[in-house]
Amino acid sequence: RAPEPATLVIFGATGDLARRKLLPAVFGLWQDGLLGSAFNIVGVGRQEMTDEGFGDFVLEALRSSKETDAPQPGALEKFRELLYYEHGDFGGDEVYSLVQKELDRAQDAHGGRKNALFYLSTPPSLFEPISAGLGRLGLADESEGWRRLVIEKPFGRDLGSARELNAAIHRVWDESQVYRIDHYLGKETVQNLMAIRFGNAIFEPLWNRAMIDHVQITAAEDLGLEGRAGYYEEAGVIRDMLQNHLLQLFALTAMEPPVAFDAGAIRDEKVKVLRAVRPIPQGRVAEVAAFGQYGPGTLYGEAVPGYREEPGVREGSPTPTHVAVRLEVDNWRWQGVPFFLRTGKRLPKKVTEIAVVFKRPPLGMFPGGTERNVLAFRIQPDEGVSLKFSSKSPGQEMVLREVVMDFRYDAFGAQLESPYSRLLLDAMLGDATLFPREDEVDCAWQLVSGLLERAEDTPPQEFPNYPAGTWGPEAADRLIGPDRRWRRL
Ligand code: BG6
Repeated sequence: RAPEPATLVIFGATGDLARRKLLPAVFGLWQDGLLGSAFNIVGVGRQEMTDEGFGDFVLEALRSSKETDAPQPGALEKFRELLYYEHGDFGGDEVYSLVQKELDRAQDAHGGRKNALFYLSTPPSLFEPISAGLGRLGLADESEGWRRLVIEKPFGRDLGSARELNAAIHRVWDESQVYRIDHYLGKETVQNLMAIRFGNAIFEPLWNRAMIDHVQITAAEDLGLEGRAGYYEEAGVIRDMLQNHLLQLFALTAMEPPVAFDAGAIRDEKVKVLRAVRPIPQGRVAEVAAFGQYGPGTLYGEAVPGYREEPGVREGSPTPTHVAVRLEVDNWRWQGVPFFLRTGKRLPKKVTEIAVVFKRPPLGMFPGGTERNVLAFRIQPDEGVSLKFSSKSPGQEMVLREVVMDFRYDAFGAQLESPYSRLLLDAMLGDATLFPREDEVDCAWQLVSGLLERAEDTPPQEFPNYPAGTWGPEAADRLIGPDRRWRRL
């Protein structure tokens, strides 16, 4: 299925995200013939630039990004012919009327339609003005073709501002026109969670409080700030990773089977399980969450500075770079099964995993006891799924050892698609399954509000509390212990 002819309008087209992720993804889709017969791109920015200049910029971006597929001979030059550029002030009307003219110009080539995907690859402070500007000029109106709005995270910085942003967007757009990007949902292995849970009969009967002891979701990053101190100082780990990526992984793991594999049904179930999470009681945050910030340390044998020493970070900054949290889900399936989520920067390696840890057998009849079985979804890298269980080890004695059954993605022999290309194509096709809906985002903010308040009150002298290159603060180990421990990854 190919999308209808359409124009992709990228606001903030010369920004970092567009350069590193978006443009390479668009090019890859186009080169693979997935964007249909008629397609063009209009870059929009505040910077003055000609179509030519924009063409140079895009080609340079494609050549320098590691994410660009190898171009076929002549492909870059042909791609360049699809590129246009408009500039102006996002608060005025003129820039939107220029965009309007671009859609008029493409109309004949696009079979008389004026379909447009507006991609806001801008700082969040521009989401509202751009959405309103498009609205003022009638660009959200679908009488001449479909019109869709794609927004990057962060969707607000807390519950109140997220609600304001959603309200502002809905003054112009219907929810069905809005596509909020959470790039974790575009990862193959994240989609595979649903495939494995609901495309097999053997897992669902185990997926409940009778069989499962707890679930661990880890998103560890070895990277530090990568020059993003301005953003990160404002965001911190709760807004940067927990509120969105980790809660999405949680929702897909814990949700009920949807009645169909479509956007409405899947998002309904995600909202339902997010609603079932027990609110974090005020004043008792320390019992269910542990925050951390990295100090100087060693990573891959090299000394790395602490968070507070990174350029652009405030002296004595209280911003957390690590969080571990225990969630309880108040529904029949999960009553009494804790979900432990953790994520942090400057940990010993990059690894994202969801581990479903089963109960021990009711009777321990073997010497040395038995371990808990673990079904682990390796989201990245080394993508795959493994099941750990106990087996007799060869010999006269009845001695049990843990063994692993392993499925590796590379068995398919295909390269994994980039999340951006998957999500962009879905938005062009009008499939919102992998995009968080308004009520999901709202629930996720409600869930983390207590954590945000507590994190903002954390006395600066508590940090730093883990050296770079280690697995986070001791408080995170206490949170999961004493009879459980974080997986060694
Ligand atoms: C982004 C965060 O959303 O996700 C970054 O802003 C983080 O801080 C990144 O590094 C992680 O994404 P991935 O796909 O590399 O796991």
